[in-house]
Amino acid sequence: MMSLASSTSGVENSVNIHRPRRLRRTAALRRLVQETRLTVDDLIYPLFVMEGEAQKQEIPSMPGCYRYTLDLLLAEIADAYNLGINAIALFPLIPSEKKDNFGVESYNRDGMVQRTIRAIKKEIPEIAVISDVALDPYSVYGHDGIVQDGQILNDETVEVLVKMALSQAEAGVDFVAPSDMMDGRVGAIRKALDTQGYINVGILAYSAKYASAYYGPFRDALESAPQFGDKKTYQMDYANAAEAIKEVHLDIVEGADMVMVKPALAYLDIIRRLREYTHLPVVAYNVSGEYAMIKAAAQQGWIDEKKVIWETLTSMKRAGADAIVTYFAKEVALMLHS
Ligand code: PBG
Repeated sequence: MMSLASSTSGVENSVNIHRPRRLRRTAALRRLVQETRLTVDDLIYPLFVMEGEAQKQEIPSMPGCYRYTLDLLLAEIADAYNLGINAIALFPLIPSEKKDNFGVESYNRDGMVQRTIRAIKKEIPEIAVISDVALDPYSVYGHDGIVQDGQILNDETVEVLVKMALSQAEAGVDFVAPSDMMDGRVGAIRKALDTQGYINVGILAYSAKYASAYYGPFRDALESAPQFGDKKTYQMDYANAAEAIKEVHLDIVEGADMVMVKPALAYLDIIRRLREYTHLPVVAYNVSGEYAMIKAAAQQGWIDEKKVIWETLTSMKRAGADAIVTYFAKEVALMLHS
């Protein structure tokens, strides 16, 4: 057996002046050198709104997430705001009788999203309201564009998206977020907003949005699953990274104020690339499937939910995200307060 003396002298002989563990020895030192910190300021809280009064419905594939009627949604937003959350993203559940192929309901001045934006801006004007611009919640086909002969039309869809964005701007939204992946939509929306006097309404472009199986629970929430085919002719192939740079480049040239990567967890490399490519804020969308996976494993008792949430969201910031859209926003805010 080796004696203590001989092992110590062995260490002395090796030139081991670098000991990274010195910085990890105590909690105080670890805090001092922590490089990335998740704060409530980083969070955007996505919320589902539906018609009716005094109701909330839990989404089965997203335990802990609800669709709210406007009255209860306002209470939820006030709650979130009081916890320090500064921004929300709105998604509507549109009744099937209001869906068509052209998304006409999407630019109804008295549509659900437009009424919701007005009500939030009246009750809690300080919170940043971001509204989604895409046809899928309004489409009988569950696609993000107008369908003709099984194809998704680009330029005709952009015309509808422009009307949708304008009606949301008129209702008082802070940022519109085109999530449709039609070509040229950011430029068309920017031009229309500017010519109509909405120079201060910003655009958060879903620039690198991938055709992902992680959106399943969200489509349950909005009853918006595609009725035929998939979204691969407009959303990106998850095998591609350089293409994300092309998309972001175009969106920046067309006038985006912030760019988004979606989903987030399986795309941390894309977040990092965009962070290095642009000086615009980069937003990561921690999508419904990512949420569902953590919830399901936690419900089984297989992982520690809070720790996994924290680690997951911190990794997105470490990768380079300035802000994160996450269904965990309120839980994170509560953890920060406890
Ligand atoms: C719609 C849209 C989707 C999501 C956000 N906006 C679904 C899709 O593109 O099919 C997904 C969000 C999530 O999964 O949390 N354009």
